[in-house]
Amino acid sequence: MRNIVAGNWKSNKLMGEAREWMDEMAEWLASHEGVEVMVGAPAPYLSVLANVAPEGLQVLAQNVSAEGHGAHTGEFTADMLKSCGVAGAIVGHSERRARYGDTDDRVKAKVRALVGEGLQAVFCCGETLEEREAGHQEQVVHRQLKAAVLDLDEDALNRVVVAYEPVWAIGTGKTATSAQAQEMHGAIRGWLADRFGDEKAADVAILYGGSCKPSNAAELFGKADINGGLIGGAALNPVDFQGVLAGHPDLKR
Ligand code: 13P
Repeated sequence: MRNIVAGNWKSNKLMGEAREWMDEMAEWLASHEGVEVMVGAPAPYLSVLANVAPEGLQVLAQNVSAEGHGAHTGEFTADMLKSCGVAGAIVGHSERRARYGDTDDRVKAKVRALVGEGLQAVFCCGETLEEREAGHQEQVVHRQLKAAVLDLDEDALNRVVVAYEPVWAIGTGKTATSAQAQEMHGAIRGWLADRFGDEKAADVAILYGGSCKPSNAAELFGKADINGGLIGGAALNPVDFQGVLAGHPDLKR
């Protein structure tokens, strides 16, 4: 089983601040283990950060091209990320689905591009408030998962991390209760098991994201199918991020 806590800085921090964050995390990582730590950084910093990242910290992009090399101005491909030492990318984030044209089909192509290069795909899924109020959360997340993950081959699944991020909990301070989160994580694990078998499904890290912070991390990470978190606001400051990590039951000093 994989335990992962990943930060997602989104469009925040300048280069110097990113380097300072790395330095503080390096010191902390030297005396902690048991949980894989990742951070999704803005694209301009990736090459530098991947080179200075301490052992135990993997640097992720927050996007990747759905196309290969060619006339696609502004895009960067999975093999470009790989050539810079980047571990993978966050794909299908609700902010990109809502505002930057990441349809299920594009997210599928991005996941495939990453795993095809042997990189990690941190695949995000989650329902909007409207969808939850209509009781459609399972239907929506199943559709997203089916489009991008359930048709992969078994080997590719080893490089997929699923992040369940209810849109209504992102950046709102309104966290899903641990019971609500576990219910969805259990459903996701079940769909993975139906397709890949129980053993493979048990190996996939399913992270919770959405206003996860030091004060609620332990409660969320204590649930059977919650293997860690994808952290936005609380990942910007290393002390808060370490506070979230401290809530993971498998973290060891
Ligand atoms: P917040 O932790 O700021 O709610 O963001 C979650 C998120 O979107 C991580 O990808």
